Amino acid sequence: MNIPFVNEPFTSFANPANQEAFENALRQVESELGQQYSMIIGGQKVTSSRTLTSVNPANKEQIIGTIYQADQELAEQAIQTAAETFRSWKHTDPNERARLLYKAAAIMRRRKHEFSAWLVYESGKTWPEADADTAEAIDFMEFYARDMQRLSQPQPLTRIAGEDNELTYIPLGVGIVIPPWNFPLAIMAGMTSAALVSGNTVVLKPASTTPVIAAKFMELLAEAGLPDGVVNYLPGPGIEVGDYLVDHALTRFISFTGSRDVGLRINERAARTAPGQKWIKRVIAEMGGKDSIVVDNDSDLELAAESITASAFGFSGQKCSACSRAIIHKDVYDVVLQKVIERTKQLTMGSPLEVNSQVGPVIDDKAYAKINEYIEIGKSEGRLVLGGGTGSAEGYFIEPTIIADVDPQARIAQEEIFGPVLAFIKAEDFQDALDIANNTDYGLTGAVISRNREHLQQARQEFFAGNLYFNRKCTGALVGTHPFGGFNMSGTDSKAGGRDYLLLFTQAKLVSEKY
Ligand code: SER
Repeated sequence: MNIPFVNEPFTSFANPANQEAFENALRQVESELGQQYSMIIGGQKVTSSRTLTSVNPANKEQIIGTIYQADQELAEQAIQTAAETFRSWKHTDPNERARLLYKAAAIMRRRKHEFSAWLVYESGKTWPEADADTAEAIDFMEFYARDMQRLSQPQPLTRIAGEDNELTYIPLGVGIVIPPWNFPLAIMAGMTSAALVSGNTVVLKPASTTPVIAAKFMELLAEAGLPDGVVNYLPGPGIEVGDYLVDHALTRFISFTGSRDVGLRINERAARTAPGQKWIKRVIAEMGGKDSIVVDNDSDLELAAESITASAFGFSGQKCSACSRAIIHKDVYDVVLQKVIERTKQLTMGSPLEVNSQVGPVIDDKAYAKINEYIEIGKSEGRLVLGGGTGSAEGYFIEPTIIADVDPQARIAQEEIFGPVLAFIKAEDFQDALDIANNTDYGLTGAVISRNREHLQQARQEFFAGNLYFNRKCTGALVGTHPFGGFNMSGTDSKAGGRDYLLLFTQAKLVSEKY
């Protein structure tokens, strides 16, 4: 706690020693592929008659693991266990809970490449993307541990004579944590650790494409000394098990990161009061984005191209923060388009097991089909200037694709594609560019590339995004440095990795004693 928070550094794979260490980790994980993973309820391993197979999206034949699936009966058991465990867990000293996260972070740091290697295999992340995901998971644990300790300090209140007043942040109860597959370690660990360090107990329903990484995190929490029943691991189908968990009368809050459709569904269901329910459920939802980078006519065009390419095609565009709209001032449109095409052509697509792969696969068959459909739509809505094809049929590879001359209202300019598809849109002037940037249902990230101070100031005020970046890419928010989360249909305006976040997992209690 006395050591100030700093972001976990990224690994340089240009360093041969790091490269070798990562290759060793990949080999180690390869030897562990194909195992079975039980549910964990109250610390007990639980199996069922149903299983789901997690596969490598870069190599569909390769099984990462087989995961037992819950049904409603097991969901009931998990909630009851979490509710029972809450009775004791809520009284643990916040410092003790924080200590547990420090320990978990230390273990993950020691096994960093191993966790990243699981990410490469199960989510198809390239080495640097996997490394950043693991670093962010470590950051979340370190950050929320400190923040809980800060919140457990005496809170400033106005003093009046003859009274002792104290305000404390107490936990809410049983939380359902439903993380996404695109940051299957960082966001999953962040959501779970925020909930538990605040004194809540959790039913964790991992994403169905990345359940093994969540199982590895469960092993790590147990190793760090987390008591049984605080986090219960419950993979299962969304409609059957997810709805059951969300609807349950003992569910106090739902922390969700994923698609807009599922987020809205959860929000609607959580608003209903189940028989016997004693509270209004809280929903913390981080949903989609349709994020833009605006390029002004007075700007560093090389920087613009670099920022757009990195934001659009990092992890094949499968980030809610990804740039899917490049909105370019008409004076520099052709030049920027050409520069982005040139840079994108240099990207190497291939299995992320290879150190030089810069574009891996998309996550699964559904994503593959949906993205290819959008590419077809894009061809009719604009001019295909790069990509549009697929890669090796061993995996779900889709080429980085650029569609130029797209109307701001076109479907590919409005709907979240969640893949390597970038729309170029021409703006008349800077005001027009800002208006276009604001014309979606979302408000997650955005960037402006400009040397014009007045324009930057105007964007600071008018560009409606939770994470707005100037003269840099719009992905890669750092915990503590760039609290992350957006507006409108991007979610409930929460800020992961920020100092307001734990307030969402707590409620404030005031005790006043007259003397
Ligand atoms: N936090 C990630 C980013 O900023 C997205 O979830 O890219």
